[in-house]
Amino acid sequence: MKTSKGELLAILPQTVYAADDVCTEYNERFKEEIYALWKDNAFKNNEYFNVYSSHHEKNSLHRIAPFKHLTRVVEEHIYEFLLAYGYNEFIARNIKVSQMWFNIGEKGNYLFPHTHPGSFISGAYYVQTNEENWLQFYDPNKFSAVAQPDNVNDFSTNMYPIQCKDNRLLLFHSDLHHDTVEQKCERHKIVISFNTTAMFWKTGEGM
Ligand SMILES: [Fe+2]
Repeated sequence: MKTSKGELLAILPQTVYAADDVCTEYNERFKEEIYALWKDNAFKNNEYFNVYSSHHEKNSLHRIAPFKHLTRVVEEHIYEFLLAYGYNEFIARNIKVSQMWFNIGEKGNYLFPHTHPGSFISGAYYVQTNEENWLQFYDPNKFSAVAQPDNVNDFSTNMYPIQCKDNRLLLFHSDLHHDTVEQKCERHKIVISFNTTAMFWKTGEGM
């Protein structure tokens, strides 16, 4: 953006990968399985997640049908993302899903700002969403110790919202801060979230 005396340069990008219409044909099966697991285990809100989450009790969905299929598709998207980002073929091919769980959001639910420690790439796959559902990403380093600007714009914002849509997949580096706004409507928001690990860490290959 030009000013009368100079120019503002937006530098140091943050990157999120988004893909739509992912596993659309599996959507109903995902929903059925998630409700079956939820009913059986009655997961409750906890201090980290103000939503119904299977994060602690059932976080290996990637090993069971029909989520095994989603995992294969997610790993292909991770490969695309990482190659385009600039990683080499070996690294892009060996980032694998290591945890997968579901969240069910109801009226009044939200996620606190958080990262995913111990993971390299994290992501969310949206099974059922509402128009008001957004995932907000933050740059926690971007704030003024003196004062926040009165008019936040593309050069000063530290938050970027991305709308959650049915069958949309979002991928991002696991240390990127994110949260959700409080849900206002009753209809369940159903999300499958996951973490990944680098399979080559054990061998040191490709580093
Ligand atoms: Fe998260």
